[in-house]
Amino acid sequence: MNIALELKHITKHFDTTQILRGVDLSIRQGERHALIGPNGAGKSTLFDLIAGRTQPTSGRIALNGVDVTGMRAHRLGRKGLARSFQNTSVFTGLTVRDNVRCAVLGSRVATWKDRWFRSSVIDAEAHRVLAAISLLDRSDALATSLSYAELRALDLGLALAAGASVLLLDEPTAGMNRAEAARALALIRETTQGKTLLIVEHDMEAVFALADRISVLVQGRIIATGTPAEIAAHPVVRAAYLGATP
Ligand SMILES: Nc1ncnc2c1ncn2[C@@H]1O[C@H](COP(=O)(O)OP(=O)(O)O)[C@@H](O)[C@H]1O
Ligand SMILES: [Mg+2]
Repeated sequence: MNIALELKHITKHFDTTQILRGVDLSIRQGERHALIGPNGAGKSTLFDLIAGRTQPTSGRIALNGVDVTGMRAHRLGRKGLARSFQNTSVFTGLTVRDNVRCAVLGSRVATWKDRWFRSSVIDAEAHRVLAAISLLDRSDALATSLSYAELRALDLGLALAAGASVLLLDEPTAGMNRAEAARALALIRETTQGKTLLIVEHDMEAVFALADRISVLVQGRIIATGTPAEIAAHPVVRAAYLGATP
């Protein structure tokens, strides 16, 4: 089985405080993997490391079998890894369609294949992505005019348009009402088919419905990895995280 993302003995210190205490994690290609755990467990810190925003204190990270430890975010992006739902990747002064067209074009510039510079090809690809994220009817709107939920959908679309095969989503439904969150999760499920997904999400019902496997991070350590059924039945997880009394 091919491994899309592999973490080996990852530690992270901030000054004298140890946040991650030896994280090992293997995520298979095409798998939807959820990372759950209490606030402050180190989930976002781990995402920052995987996405190349910060460096681990020790340990190795491999993407599709290639060691990428220490590689910066823009180079990881070229290798197909995207951390989505950071609104920073949206150009607010451009229309929704032009944002997607830029992402399509940007992902192909490295190959300098002429056919990607034909606008009909770029437009067709942008149309496909806009349809996938349900923003076709907002194509001509400026990105600034989008609602928060629409902006996050666009951000997911930009990662897809850029050709990402491994997506990291950190609390993609944060700040949404229940209806928006349900739509966003449905969108994530549809658009990530065949891709590798690592997601942090607080809605346990959503996590258990979406994930192939779940890992539980508590105080910088993964205390369990398994299928939703295995995690739901795990006595230590139930006691430490799901709030069950033994
Ligand atoms: N840049 C930083 N400097 C110092 N401490 C940090 C920094 N970033 C996060 N932390 C600390 O690391 C711990 C884990 O944070 P975080 O990874 O955001 O947790 P989670 O996403 O699981 O809620 C917290 O105690 C937080 O205060
Ligand atoms: Mg967090």
